[in-house]
Amino acid sequence: MSSTNRGSQRNRADNYPTPTWCVRRLLEAVKLPGGTWLEPTAGAGAIIEGVNAVRDDIEWTAVELRSECRGPLGKLVGDTRRVHIADFTEFSPAGVKEPNVVITNPPYLHAMPIVEHALGFGGLVVMLLRLNFLSSGTRAEFLRRHPPDVYVLPNRPSFTASGKTDSIEYAWFVWNPGRRRRKGAIQVLAPTSKDERRNDLVTLRLAGGGA
Ligand SMILES: C[S@@+](CC[C@H](N)C(=O)[O-])C[C@H]1O[C@@H](n2cnc3c(N)ncnc32)[C@H](O)[C@@H]1O
Repeated sequence: MSSTNRGSQRNRADNYPTPTWCVRRLLEAVKLPGGTWLEPTAGAGAIIEGVNAVRDDIEWTAVELRSECRGPLGKLVGDTRRVHIADFTEFSPAGVKEPNVVITNPPYLHAMPIVEHALGFGGLVVMLLRLNFLSSGTRAEFLRRHPPDVYVLPNRPSFTASGKTDSIEYAWFVWNPGRRRRKGAIQVLAPTSKDERRNDLVTLRLAGGGA
């Protein structure tokens, strides 16, 4: 998800890789269980790579619309049979081992159906979303029934190799589909230094990512 380029053309397929520092801040603050994880809109695997850099207890399944991502995802996941070139909203939970965690930065225009479909897989659902995902008449009923915990990134991410920051604030939203409750918690994550954010940009440029 990225609000980059609002008012002009968004990049093809809404391909905005997640900066690794956003993944680091999440994993420092939230104790997520190991085991089977699912990346439902995986792109070339920026989140998978960021998680794998600090954890070795995860077996990934990746889903992505764009077939050119099969190769890079296969390398990161370690087995191309666990890479599915498909529309996640039509991807059946019966096809995968029940994931402990479903994690992604979903495409901006289709975030809601992806969140709803992810909740059907049974594991924790962790999504990088615009903070104002919370304030919407159309999503209000859903959010009242399924209140997430919200981990706010105090620095705006850049989703492009140019380093231009996004026009809006982001947070990791965490849902536990097994838990019925009426309200969630909010936490502001640690700030990220300019140097750390800049280093991730260099990696992104070398990998040819971003718009
Ligand atoms: C914002 S990018 C994020 C990529 C990756 N999750 C990351 O964080 O780096 C969104 C990705 O979702 C893919 N995508 C869009 N709609 C999809 C769908 N319905 N099913 C699977 N992938 C989808 C796009 O091709 C793009 O690679």
